[in-house]
Amino acid sequence: MRKIKKAIIPAAGYGTGFLPATKATAKEMLPIVDKPIIQFIVEEALESGIEEILIITGRHKRPIEDHFDSNVELEENLVAKEKWELLELVKSTTKADLFFVRQAYPKGLGDAIYQAKSFVGDEPFVVMLGDNIMESDVPVTKQLIDLYEENGASNIAVIEVPKEDSNKYGIIDIDQEVDGFNGEVFSILNVVEKPNAKVAPSNLAVAGRYVLTPQIFDILAKQEAGKDDEVQLTDAIAKLNETQRVFAKRIEGKRYDVGNRMGYMDLSLQYGLKHPETEVGLRDYLIQMSQTLRKDI
Ligand code: G1P
Repeated sequence: MRKIKKAIIPAAGYGTGFLPATKATAKEMLPIVDKPIIQFIVEEALESGIEEILIITGRHKRPIEDHFDSNVELEENLVAKEKWELLELVKSTTKADLFFVRQAYPKGLGDAIYQAKSFVGDEPFVVMLGDNIMESDVPVTKQLIDLYEENGASNIAVIEVPKEDSNKYGIIDIDQEVDGFNGEVFSILNVVEKPNAKVAPSNLAVAGRYVLTPQIFDILAKQEAGKDDEVQLTDAIAKLNETQRVFAKRIEGKRYDVGNRMGYMDLSLQYGLKHPETEVGLRDYLIQMSQTLRKDI
């Protein structure tokens, strides 16, 4: 079995959920307290044993490349001022082995992933969606890779969602539970992109992390546009499942959807409550704030 060493992070979207902040910059660079969203994803990849990362970018995404590059001028300035901790922080983002490719036209997630074909070659790989930040003891990408090491198959992370939210996600149609995984792993019959609640086949939603076999590229090469007139990765996975089994793994951990304002604020608060510089102050502030808000109810 081939070891999984490569990750694809699609980051070509317009970030319309955060306009006007994203008019001239990448949504992936928006900070959670002091760390850009994309850095959380890259760190999860590295903690999962990924060695090479391809980021699919588009217009306005240059800051992502700069963030993971060195900044000699800034480093020299910090050395002169003997700000060693800040220097460490600045240098820490240069450690990942990153590659970039541009998606010329945003034609959907499936098309973005197809741009990674020559980078991936004939190896299994992971896809990590930048909008989904995971908090878990074992990184979610690692959970999927561990499963791949047992079943040698494509595995997608799923979470339970309320039925009325089905139209925001790829929803899986469960075939059966796989023995020996505590009810956490399922073979699938199908996966449907953003069905409405009435026809959603289950309440298990695709949660932005995938292990895929390279055969997905043969399918993506011919994949027509689907939901919202975009080439959907979900449709290609459903097709892959017709010839190779694809499994869904209910993930252990919490998922934050930082592609919308509320999810972004949720993670910002949770992260702020753990950040050494803000944990005490933010906690006190939130307690005081909730008391004030309660008085208004
Ligand atoms: C994408 C996928 C969808 C998945 C979701 C998770 O949709 O197409 O299947 O459930 O990410 O965040 P998007 O949110 O990019 O519209």
